[in-house]
Amino acid sequence: MRNIVIVGASKGLGNSMIDGLGKKEDTFFLISRTKPMNLDLQADYKKIWIQADLSNLDSIETILQAIAKTPIDIVIYNAGIWEKTNFEEVTPTEIVSIINVNLTSVILLTQKLIGNIRSGRLKKIIFIGSTCGLENEGSDAIVYNATKFGIRGVTHALREYLRKDLISVSCISPGSIASDIPFSDGAETALKKHSNERMPVADIISIINVILDSSVATCIKEIHVPALKDTDL
Ligand SMILES: NC(=O)c1ccc[n+]([C@@H]2O[C@H](COP(=O)([O-])OP(=O)(O)OC[C@H]3O[C@@H](n4cnc5c(N)ncnc54)[C@H](OP(=O)(O)O)[C@@H]3O)[C@@H](O)[C@H]2O)c1
Repeated sequence: MRNIVIVGASKGLGNSMIDGLGKKEDTFFLISRTKPMNLDLQADYKKIWIQADLSNLDSIETILQAIAKTPIDIVIYNAGIWEKTNFEEVTPTEIVSIINVNLTSVILLTQKLIGNIRSGRLKKIIFIGSTCGLENEGSDAIVYNATKFGIRGVTHALREYLRKDLISVSCISPGSIASDIPFSDGAETALKKHSNERMPVADIISIINVILDSSVATCIKEIHVPALKDTDL
């Protein structure tokens, strides 16, 4: 029985985490702007959707009110957005929005949930970065890359801050994921659709399960997971 917060849970990797991680009697707090795809599907675990737009920092208050003083075992911050145009066309509003969703909300929400995590049992925080946050990746998405480098900085400093509480902080930096193919469709479907060029969500979820199953003595700092066919590293 675990209380799990997934930020960015309506679709893609975050939505697949619900089916991939869920165990009997878990409770998921699912944060996104739109309704999670599988919210109404019957399951052994409970799903609570908190509607919030993290590009607006005031939405953090909505999330905190919904979670209140519930002890939280696991926080997975997965929400991530990227620029849609080349650098010289990105608007100031879009820049602020990407930084708010990918980085500022990571810091703010984690800060505000520390009390809940301290009173939880498993004490795990996992951030989803990207290989775009690693040296020499080759992407020219300036704002996205800045936030994904930033989330690694948050990971390392937060681990120092929370060491005394035995709260572990990990960052998984994946490369190309077949996040358009849900966990429930199976890895083979994802491999077939993307000609083995994108990793099935199940592979990232297996890695998350390794972190969740490790004891309080273990500190998994960072995991870099490019797809084998990602040649830009
Ligand atoms: N896909 C890849 O190849 C890849 C590679 C490396 C790293 N990653 C990272 O993996 C994570 C998931 O990627 P994905 O491909 O699964 O992305 P996705 O399918 O676009 O899903 C992103 C999730 O974030 C939520 N989100 C976006 N903007 C939000 C906002 N303003 N407020 C609240 N929630 C918001 C979305 O929900 P709503 O739209 O409903 O708000 C959605 O649930 C991201 O951090 C991404 O950077 C992905």
